[in-house]
Amino acid sequence: MIYFDNAATTLPKPREVIEAVAQAMCSMGNAGRGAHTATLGASRIIYDTREKLAHFFGAESPKQIAFTSNSTEALNTALKGILNPGNHVVTTVLEHNSVLRPLYELEKTGVELTFVGCDEKGMVRYEEIGEAIRENTRAIVCTHASNLTGNLLDIRRIGELARAHGLLFIVDASQTAGVFPIDVRDMKIDILCFTGHKGLMGPQGTGGMYVREGLSVRPLKTGGSGVQTYSREHPKEMPTALEAGTLNGHGIAGLGAAVELLEAAGLDKIRAYEQELMRLFYEGVKEIPGVRVYGDFSQKERCAIVALNIGDYDSAEVSDELLVTYGIATRAGGHCAPLMHKALGTVEQGAVRFSFSWHNTKEEVETAVRAIRELAEN
Ligand code: ALA
Repeated sequence: MIYFDNAATTLPKPREVIEAVAQAMCSMGNAGRGAHTATLGASRIIYDTREKLAHFFGAESPKQIAFTSNSTEALNTALKGILNPGNHVVTTVLEHNSVLRPLYELEKTGVELTFVGCDEKGMVRYEEIGEAIRENTRAIVCTHASNLTGNLLDIRRIGELARAHGLLFIVDASQTAGVFPIDVRDMKIDILCFTGHKGLMGPQGTGGMYVREGLSVRPLKTGGSGVQTYSREHPKEMPTALEAGTLNGHGIAGLGAAVELLEAAGLDKIRAYEQELMRLFYEGVKEIPGVRVYGDFSQKERCAIVALNIGDYDSAEVSDELLVTYGIATRAGGHCAPLMHKALGTVEQGAVRFSFSWHNTKEEVETAVRAIRELAEN
């Protein structure tokens, strides 16, 4: 199989990640629950990963990183833990359901929402963000990149706007963590939500959130923490404040290995290669008669994603044909991004999304270009 669904999850995982998970499964106790060798070893591995992530994202200290099972859990925690009835939030039509659905839930409790629109290429209209700010605006919530088009947002620009208006800035880095450099303090990000299994190349079921020092977020869940057992309340100190129950220690061990690997290999080098694959594919398919590509390719850098349609064909049919006839794995349909599809006019048809990673080759990309040409001709 030629795997071009790396925006859903990167595959395969690096050998170092697999080995770290296997090693943890052979040796890891329950972190923070006891004082024997196995639990201390688990605590050490989890702290090491926390430290690596803090360094990776430019956090003040490791305690500002809380582990979650994915971006969705991080975003739910951030949004439900920060927003109150009467607050107004500015967000965009580029968002994934992991932002939209918690916001729609909060809307029912009295939180007000404004969705900033996009141009015909799916690029956010930055000027509308500032125009949407009101007296009761509490936060700007936005993705770093669209999971459908791959369009990249200027997070620093939005962060500066948020800071200038005294607003909280919550960023969904699902598609960019591990691919683009993110410095939370430099970009004025108050809460960064990330998953471990996409660009970071770690195991599924890993992820986390950075919370700016001094900012308090209500937890989504409370329970066992290994400390303050006799208190009726969950500990308030980060990161324990946002972590309850046994952590995914095995996955976190793999995530730590993944971050180490990315740092050693060099983010810029990996990204340059992925950009090359994405451009090669885009240049190969953009002029094929009947093919319509979505997204803004005038961006100097963007996610390694190309979403397209062939004529009026249903995207799921095209995606199936790519798999059955050519062995190419893509993702079709709505991509959990309903407002983005609505803006692009692809609600009915969906789109076929190709997403590239450093394990892909130019030959694979050329095969996919030939496949699209043949399908379009037929
Ligand atoms: N959110 C993931 C995607 O875009 C799963 O495919």
